[in-house]
Amino acid sequence: MNVKKLVMSKKLLVLLIATVCLLLLGTTAYAASTFTDTVGHWAQPLIEKVAALGIMEGHNPTTFGPDENVTRAQLAATEARAYDKQAADTTKLVNDKLSTVDRTLALWNIQPGLGTVMIEYGNRMARLWFAGNAGNWDMAQYQLDEMVEIQEVGETTRPARKAMLKAFEDSFLTPLGTTIAAQDKPAFTTAFNNMIAGCNGCHAASASADWNSYQFVKIQKPTNDPADYIQWNTPGGTGNKK
Ligand code: HEC
Repeated sequence: MNVKKLVMSKKLLVLLIATVCLLLLGTTAYAASTFTDTVGHWAQPLIEKVAALGIMEGHNPTTFGPDENVTRAQLAATEARAYDKQAADTTKLVNDKLSTVDRTLALWNIQPGLGTVMIEYGNRMARLWFAGNAGNWDMAQYQLDEMVEIQEVGETTRPARKAMLKAFEDSFLTPLGTTIAAQDKPAFTTAFNNMIAGCNGCHAASASADWNSYQFVKIQKPTNDPADYIQWNTPGGTGNKK
């Protein structure tokens, strides 16, 4: 079989790959080269870059062979390593951006902050009271679960508040859950009152760029039905799977 062998100048390849890397990767810190046969070569800085990125290797730690030709196989391997690295870098970049709050980014900046989260928090707290008070323990548990869920949104979008939110959950929401599971109305009422004291404790202790304290946000046990289209005294009994 007559296989036509493509031979490309190794320096042309280095130049090609280095250009791709420079375009794709921006500023990256490169390790110093240990190749002795590239010292003073016009392509030395480029060779050091592709070697540090793991895209091209030398024959051994000290010999690169800067003026040798490359085979099609070597070209393919080099290109594949460059693309793999680019794909891995892109995945990491996207994951980092999506996992870390950065309010200079439009998408992060429109995520609900604590002020928004708290409106749902208070709303669910009131529903929780009416459900528990009516003895609809499934509904009470459901509202408690939803409180924890919306709280987690706040923990994500406002990481500075996370420790206090978590402490509040452990100190007040978890014990409230125990009284719901026990279907113990007097204990539920006590735990509910304790929770409200906890809401207000956190408000008094929280500050921001605008406020020294949020003690002016004072919570009390709801007296009016927050959603009179819901029949609170519906029997539970569907069974909580948890
Ligand atoms: C981590 C501490 C913390 C806990 C715990 C907490 N809050 Fe808040 N709450 C805040 C902060 C901070 C604000 C001000 C939010 C902002 O505007 O950034 C706030 C604001 C509010 C507001 C005002 C929202 C508005 O715009 O009307 C309500 C209502 C509220 N919280 C309800 C509650 C209820 C109910 C609980 C308990 C079930 C609770 N909060 C527990 C920290 C907390």
